[in-house]
Amino acid sequence: MAARGTPKLIRTLGGEIHKRPPVWMMRQAGRHLPEYLELRSRARDFLDFCYTPSMAAEATLQPVKRYGMDGAILFADILLILDAMGRGVRFEKGIGPIVETIGGPGDLDTVPLSAVADRLAPVSETVSRVKSQLSPATSLIGFAGAPWTVLIYAIEGRGKTDKNEARSWVYTRPDDLGRALELMSEATARYMLAQAEAGADALMIFDSWAEGLADDVFRKIIISPTARLVSRLRELGVTLPIIGFPRGAGAMLAEYADQTGVSAVGLDTSAVPAHVNASLPADFPVQGHLDPLLLRAGGEQLVARTREIVAAYRGRPHIFNLGHGVLPDTPISNVETVVSCLRDG
Ligand code: CP3
Repeated sequence: MAARGTPKLIRTLGGEIHKRPPVWMMRQAGRHLPEYLELRSRARDFLDFCYTPSMAAEATLQPVKRYGMDGAILFADILLILDAMGRGVRFEKGIGPIVETIGGPGDLDTVPLSAVADRLAPVSETVSRVKSQLSPATSLIGFAGAPWTVLIYAIEGRGKTDKNEARSWVYTRPDDLGRALELMSEATARYMLAQAEAGADALMIFDSWAEGLADDVFRKIIISPTARLVSRLRELGVTLPIIGFPRGAGAMLAEYADQTGVSAVGLDTSAVPAHVNASLPADFPVQGHLDPLLLRAGGEQLVARTREIVAAYRGRPHIFNLGHGVLPDTPISNVETVVSCLRDG
């Protein structure tokens, strides 16, 4: 039994079912908020923003203050760990992230783990600052990218590629890929441990590029490195609930939920409620999965679909969220509509 005073989102991750599900949204902090744009204009660049705890804490809190979300997602980025591991990372307007590519796993092993942790210390500082300012009813979600999703950026150098270079490593360089994933799992476990120690209430693993993989490949590069990451976290003493988000997992979702050790799964936009309900154990918590394009479009259809998703998961622990991140040009009033629809039933 969860202790009294435990926030709704954490109780849901522990298996409680609520008529009105707790809510937060991926990328709830960021460019759709004028207060974010104002804060962002004061930072030298995006990395600097992420590494400045006063700013990152403020950005984390902005959507919570505005919307009264049940969850605050730490303001950081999945690529910070590559920067800390010694790969150059830049964010360029209109292009997105640019990462100095690796030639092999050795390039991920040049900075000792303790130094990686030290370089990411500002993120833990953000966690403790947010935690001290957050109402106890709101949960703070720490996060990292999954080993595969982060590795893609290290291999491809950019996000907007077909990912075939990275995916080919499965067949052409299996040992190098295995070693690189192992290094990512270990570094990520230390990073998430630090967030847990700094006061996060739950942790989330973003596997944004889990889509389009053959089933045997999915097991090798999604399930196995995530299972390793989760078991390392447990070995290191982390007891927090862990949400896994294997975007595009499709029919592999149940195996992912069963074999990685995560406490809950984040569902993406393409998840089919009947399939999810038929394939996951009845008490397995899920999070998701409103289409971000519908959130941006708004109107009656937004209210109707919000209600439909709530109804679809009525019988199981469910955290309401999007199927992917809030789009930059999303009207604030649409986010408000969803939140009030969930509060009023
Ligand atoms: O509200 C939140 O979710 C805040 C924290 C957060 C950011 N990135 C801030 C951010 C989180 C959880 C992420 C995760 C992230 N970053 C993912 C996984 C989730 C997903 O979207 O699939 C990925 C793949 C990245 C990598 C990344 N970071 C890309 C591809 C980009 C460029 C595209 C874009 O949206 O600009 C970023 C930059 C980024 N990360 C921004 C923010 C707010 C925009 C930077 C800016 O202000 O200019």
